[in-house]
Amino acid sequence: SEIEKGEFEHFMLKEIHEQPEAIRKTLAGRIKDGRVDFPDLEFDNVFKNTGKIIIAACGTSYHAGMVGRLVIEKLARIPVEIDLASEFRYREVLWNPNDLVIVISQSGETSDTLAALREARHNGIKVLAITNVPGSTIAQEAERVIYTHAGPEIAIASTKAYSAQLLIMYLLALYLASLRDSYNPVELEGLANELLGVDAMVESVLQEQQHIKELAEKYHKVQSIFFLGRGLDYPVAMEGALKLKETSYVHAEAYATGELLHGPLALIEQGVPVLTLISQDKLVDKSMSNIKEIKARGAVVLAICKENLQEHCQECDEKILLPRINPMLAPIVAVVPLQIFAYYMALFRGNDVDKPRNLVKSVMGD
Ligand code: AGP
Repeated sequence: SEIEKGEFEHFMLKEIHEQPEAIRKTLAGRIKDGRVDFPDLEFDNVFKNTGKIIIAACGTSYHAGMVGRLVIEKLARIPVEIDLASEFRYREVLWNPNDLVIVISQSGETSDTLAALREARHNGIKVLAITNVPGSTIAQEAERVIYTHAGPEIAIASTKAYSAQLLIMYLLALYLASLRDSYNPVELEGLANELLGVDAMVESVLQEQQHIKELAEKYHKVQSIFFLGRGLDYPVAMEGALKLKETSYVHAEAYATGELLHGPLALIEQGVPVLTLISQDKLVDKSMSNIKEIKARGAVVLAICKENLQEHCQECDEKILLPRINPMLAPIVAVVPLQIFAYYMALFRGNDVDKPRNLVKSVMGD
């Protein structure tokens, strides 16, 4: 079937705008009376006995896994290891029969991710796949599959599939937590109900498009940008940097905010752009003290900042505000301005936004 761009100039922008719908479809039927359920999965026995989760994925899917790790550990209290599928193949994994491998892949065809799945199964380990493509190789070979319902993603740069992957990570963390009785049930219910409102929050961030476009126009000639984040903001920084690299060809490097002092600070001089995520209420003071250090050295700081934290960001040169959201769910909204920024940076630099040079939708072959 023909997939059309409709009113949008590019698939990437269209898919960015399809995120609220991708979120709604991925959530559909999964939350009832504040409880998450996966009625058809029939995997409770495995979930109840899992001693450790190992997540393997590449690129954007890996970044969704990084968020997944933090929320599963926090809510379900299961130790989680996360690995780039492209590295996983080459290390000695010390398997335990109660391990559970989760592979995440939009396409369901990425060779390294498939190899991680096969390696796990070869060792008798259960594999749960999260993919957007029914009938894909990864969907076929895993014990169980949870589908993201983002719809076909055409742009090489992944956007709506990532949002849908994040939603599955949250649903899974909540489900595991209630199954294993590892977290306060009232708080779990609160989080589940908040998840039902994140589509509307993403809608509200999409309203910032014009402002973000103006920022992209202003900064589109830069040669390099640092992306900083701490805690749950760190994977978002990584995703923002990847998006910018692949579409705009601007060098972007993501750093955990605290690591900045351990080397990269040497690169900060007058005019160096630094984009920082500020969505974690409890971490804001710590992060702002790092930001002061780099401001003092002349960095130009762009903050993606939760509305209620904006007074902390007064010294930042530019601000994009995010709605008030539970910090645990913030990655869902915080990534959206970064996607829009990457899109317009690519556009102002005259790049082929939907088909960046050298890249393919899924990396297959060896
Ligand atoms: C995302 O914008 C990239 N194009 C890329 O990193 C992608 O996420 C990666 O290749 C993994 O693909 P998959 O999810 O289909 O396995």
